Amino acid sequence: MEAFTLAVAKGRTADHTIRLLEQMDIFFEDLTPSSRKLVFYNKKHTIKLIFVKAVDVPTYVEKGAADIGIAGKDNILESEADIYEILDLQIGKCEFAVAGKPGVNIDTLQSLTIATKYPTVAKKHFLRKGNNVEIVKLNGSVELAPLIGLSDVIVDIVETGNTLKENGLVVIEHVEPISTRLIINKASFAMKANHIQQFIEKLKISLEE
Ligand code: PRP
Ligand code: MG
Repeated sequence: MEAFTLAVAKGRTADHTIRLLEQMDIFFEDLTPSSRKLVFYNKKHTIKLIFVKAVDVPTYVEKGAADIGIAGKDNILESEADIYEILDLQIGKCEFAVAGKPGVNIDTLQSLTIATKYPTVAKKHFLRKGNNVEIVKLNGSVELAPLIGLSDVIVDIVETGNTLKENGLVVIEHVEPISTRLIINKASFAMKANHIQQFIEKLKISLEE
């Protein structure tokens, strides 16, 4: 019997997430690094694993298409999804930061143009600070924007800092730490309490190992 559906982000953190599940003795049939399949089952057919685009994990969980999700805090914040965030898996640690050319003073500019993949996060950050901002939504290579005059600064993820450095940009403000989190659909949390609690407990033990 299928107990629950688990949504995992494709991409950077997928391998690490799968290894964590294996530590919990959860193995998926036919799951190989090169596979293009998106749906997998564990041996006992109690867990359905779906691979979704990282940015969509909170949506799948909020809508109940998945009971449990493993999602980046960046995408959780940007989605504003109404879900329970239960655990920090300490995977994919990085941060949201405001970055720009060295010397740019964001507090003296009358109005700021911000390029970002995360318009909600960026808007909220500058609203809290009381800045008047215009957001330019981009889908990648955000570091280009201040270089070619598309924006004054960017709000983006900084991990090693290499992308900023190689493009002559610097961190101007730290916004928020990011890492992978375990999220749960609110209705599932009540209706599938047993299975979900078991999963959470097993995961906690693996994280402590
Ligand atoms: C991400 C992020 C930064 C970079 C941060 O970009 O948007 O650009 O990684 O990592 P670093 O600090 O270790 O350099 P990604 O590679 O996902 O490309 P994209 O923004 O073009 O989608
Ligand atoms: Mg980037």
